[in-house]
Amino acid sequence: MSQALGVALLGAGTVGSGVLRILERHRERIEARAGGPLDVRWIAVRSLTKPRDLPTNARLTDDPLEAVHDPGVHVVIEVMGGEEPATHLIETALAQGKHVVTANKVVIARSGQRLLEAYPDRLHYEASVAGGIPIIKPLQECLIANRLDQVLGIVNGTTNYILSRMDQAGISFGEALAEAQAAGYAEADPTYDISGLDAAHKLVILAMLAFEAPFSLADVHVEGIGQLETTDLAYAREFGYTVKLLAVARREEAVELRVHPALLPREHPLAKVDGVTNAVFVEGDATGPLMFTGAGAGSLPTASSVVADLVEAARRLRSQGQEPNGPLFRQGRPRVRPPEEMVSPFYLRFRVVDRPGVLAQIASAFGRHQVSIESVIQRGRGHEPVDLVFITHPARVASLSQALEAIRALPVVHQVAACLRVERGWGHA
Ligand SMILES: NC(=O)c1ccc[n+]([C@@H]2O[C@H](COP(=O)([O-])OP(=O)(O)OC[C@H]3O[C@@H](n4cnc5c(N)ncnc54)[C@H](OP(=O)(O)O)[C@@H]3O)[C@@H](O)[C@H]2O)c1
Repeated sequence: MSQALGVALLGAGTVGSGVLRILERHRERIEARAGGPLDVRWIAVRSLTKPRDLPTNARLTDDPLEAVHDPGVHVVIEVMGGEEPATHLIETALAQGKHVVTANKVVIARSGQRLLEAYPDRLHYEASVAGGIPIIKPLQECLIANRLDQVLGIVNGTTNYILSRMDQAGISFGEALAEAQAAGYAEADPTYDISGLDAAHKLVILAMLAFEAPFSLADVHVEGIGQLETTDLAYAREFGYTVKLLAVARREEAVELRVHPALLPREHPLAKVDGVTNAVFVEGDATGPLMFTGAGAGSLPTASSVVADLVEAARRLRSQGQEPNGPLFRQGRPRVRPPEEMVSPFYLRFRVVDRPGVLAQIASAFGRHQVSIESVIQRGRGHEPVDLVFITHPARVASLSQALEAIRALPVVHQVAACLRVERGWGHA
C-alpha cells in the first residue's frame, strides 16, 4: 500500500460533513480505488466553538490558509462556498502543485477560465453543477466523441420545487415559496435562486464544457420566476405545456446562453422532472439525446461527487500525473448572441376589454411587426378585463418588443400580463 495522501477539508457544513460521512462509510473501497490511504489532516471552519459531531481526528482550524500551506497536504477540498476567500485559497493550493476539489459554482463560473487554463489537470469540480448528478465528467470525457450544440438544464432545485407546486397544487408563487422554505428547500433569502442567478452560474460552467470555449456571467440573459402567476401555468397546461426555469446553451452561428422560465411541451423528458430534482439534457451528434437526472443538492449526493473527484485526484497524484487533460478551451470566444437578436416562440397573456374586434386589433399589431400567431385562447363574457392568450411562431425578440409596444398603446388593452418563451427542444424552436 502506498503512503497516505494528506487532505485538507475547507468547510464542514452540509457538503463537508457529508464528505466525512462517506469516507467513514466506504473507507476501504474508496482507498482501494484511490490507490492507497487518504488522511484528512485538517478541517477548516469559521467557528471553532460551534458544537460538531464529525467522524474524524483531523485538526480543526479557523485559518484555512494554514491547512492549505501544510506540506503534508496533497489535496485541498474547498466546500466553504462564496467567492472569497475560496478563490484565493484554491489558487494558492494550485500554485503549490496541489490538487483541488471544489463544489463552488461561483468560483468556477467567475474564475474557472483562468484557473483551468493555468491548471487543467489539478482542478476538479464535479459537484459545482447539479450536486450529485455526474455531468462535468460526462461532458468533459464520456461525450468527447460528440459535437454538442445544445444543453438544456433544470439546475436549480428550489425554483423547480416552487414551479412544480404552483403547477400541481394551483397555489401562488408566494405560497409555494413559503412551502419550500418550510421544507428546507429554499433559503430565508431566496433571491439568488429565484432571480435565476444560481442557474446562470451553472450554465456558464456547462457551456464552457459543452462548447470548449470560455464564457462569463455577462454572456447570460437571465430572468427569474418571481413574476410568474399561477394563471399562466394553467393556460400553459391548456396549450399542452408545463413551465420550468430552464438554463439553455445553444450553438448555431452564434452562441445563445439564457436562463428564464419557459413553456416546455409536456412530452419533453425535462417536463417530467419535478420537485427539487435537477436534470441536464444534451444531444450529441453520435449519441442522440441523453438526460442526466437526480439530486441536484443535499449533503450525501453532493459529497458523492466531491469524493469521486478526491479519488480521481489521488489516482492522478499516485500516477505522477500520467493522465494529463488536453486544454479545455480549444476555441477562442465565439460570438454570443445579444438578447434582442434571439428568436423563439412566445407565450403572451393580455388583459383586455371584453368586446368584439379586440383579437383582430392585436393580431394586426403582431402582423405589422412580423410576429405570427400559432394559437389563441380567448376567455370572455365575464368580468372585465378578460384574458387573451397567444402562442406565437418563432419571433425575433426585437420584433416582439416592438409589437408589444404597439399592443400596449391600444385603448382596448389593459395590460401585457405575461410574456414567456416557449422552448421545444432542438430543431423545433
Ligand atoms: N448544500 C448543497 O446541497 C450544495 C450542493 C452543491 C454545491 N454546494 C456548494 O458547496 C459549498 C458548500 O456548501 P454547504 O451547503 O456545505 O455550505 P455550509 O453548510 O454553509 O457550510 C460551509 C462550511 O464552510 C465553513 N466556512 C465558511 N466560510 C469560512 C471561512 N471563511 N473560513 C473557514 N471556514 C469557513 C463553515 O464554517 P462553520 O461551520 O463554522 O459555519 C461551514 O463549515 C458551496 O460552494 C455550495 O454552493 C452545496
